[in-house]
Amino acid sequence: MELNTRAVHVVNEPFPEGSRPLSVPLVQSSAFAFESADELAGAMAGPDGPYVYGRRGNPTVRSLEKTLAGLEGGAGALAFASGMGAISGVLLALLRPGDRVVAQHTLYGGTHAVLGDLAERYGIETVRISGDDPAELEAAAVHPATRLLVLETIANPTGRVPDLPGLLAAARALGVTSVVDNSLASPVLCRPLELGADIVVHSTTKYLSGHSDVLGGAAVFADDALRRAVWPRTVELGACADPFAAWLTLRGIPTLPLRMRAHCAGAAVLAERLEGRPGVTAVHYPGLPGHPSYERAGKLLSGGGGLLSFELAGGREAGRAFIERVRLARLALSLGGVETLVTHPASTSHRELDAASLAAAGIGPGLVRMSVGIEDVEDLWADIEQALG
Ligand SMILES: Cc1ncc(COP(=O)(O)O)c(C=O)c1O
Repeated sequence: MELNTRAVHVVNEPFPEGSRPLSVPLVQSSAFAFESADELAGAMAGPDGPYVYGRRGNPTVRSLEKTLAGLEGGAGALAFASGMGAISGVLLALLRPGDRVVAQHTLYGGTHAVLGDLAERYGIETVRISGDDPAELEAAAVHPATRLLVLETIANPTGRVPDLPGLLAAARALGVTSVVDNSLASPVLCRPLELGADIVVHSTTKYLSGHSDVLGGAAVFADDALRRAVWPRTVELGACADPFAAWLTLRGIPTLPLRMRAHCAGAAVLAERLEGRPGVTAVHYPGLPGHPSYERAGKLLSGGGGLLSFELAGGREAGRAFIERVRLARLALSLGGVETLVTHPASTSHRELDAASLAAAGIGPGLVRMSVGIEDVEDLWADIEQALG
């Protein structure tokens, strides 16, 4: 063979019999080669057979999917390019024009935006509920086209925890498919499938990957038949996980329980200290006894989480000044990474919401959201004090 040909056909050395890599191999290949035409044709049948093409499946991505299914206690999972890829993928796969969705008021802004679009473009209306009373779902679901219930384990940024067992049982009884965004709790703090959810979605960008270096999403299914039904729609949508992104996420997961413990411990200390601080009019953290979801969080979550928010007396200007004054905490939009981040939700993550929806979601003009990292808590407190001072 000529050099050009030898250069193209680099050696793809198989693992020798008897030894395997300890870490999950990164298979950064968009397509997979076959020996037989029949085998290639047969591999197109479903999500679990031999790998054919990256949008339909990949060994690194499948390792992540099986890991996530195991962590959440699901029958199977699908990985996506982002949390919004997972949420949009699930909604588009399961809803048809004229269907109805029931969702809690306090949802991530991007999810609000998709639900708004679905209403405007496809006539898929969303009915809002507080999340505290299954009777609200029962009342909304008298409409025969009610298909989906959408909840978040811990609402962003107020830390409200819905009545998951009550709502999920009611959804089951009504034949409404339930979708719970578990990004803020992670499977370390809560496993909604064990409480009766049909689908758990994640922004794996957050705690699961944990290092602010990758975007990803996932949907984990209680029933594998539902995963298999959703899979073809997600192949069409094309918001599939890239193998390197899946690999980075797998790189983060082994330390997830350790990181969650550190996030929760730091957030609990800061929330308690902020509560007594002059100039802070409210602190939202489900691990604080005064929080409206304190008792429910104590029953459903094995920790208060790493996200807290607090309202400053000076309103919008005070909130925006604080996020510019912190030095150790960084002003950045995401959450769930090892470093502490602050944002001002009213002007960033929740800017799609009008004043009434902001108020219903419990987001005041001076609200600061803090994703507490795993730094030393005394350094974080010193930073908060100097920024408040
Ligand atoms: C609760 C929640 N769900 C979903 C998302 C969207 O995830 P991604 O940014 O990975 O698309 C976010 C992002 O902040 C979030 O906080």
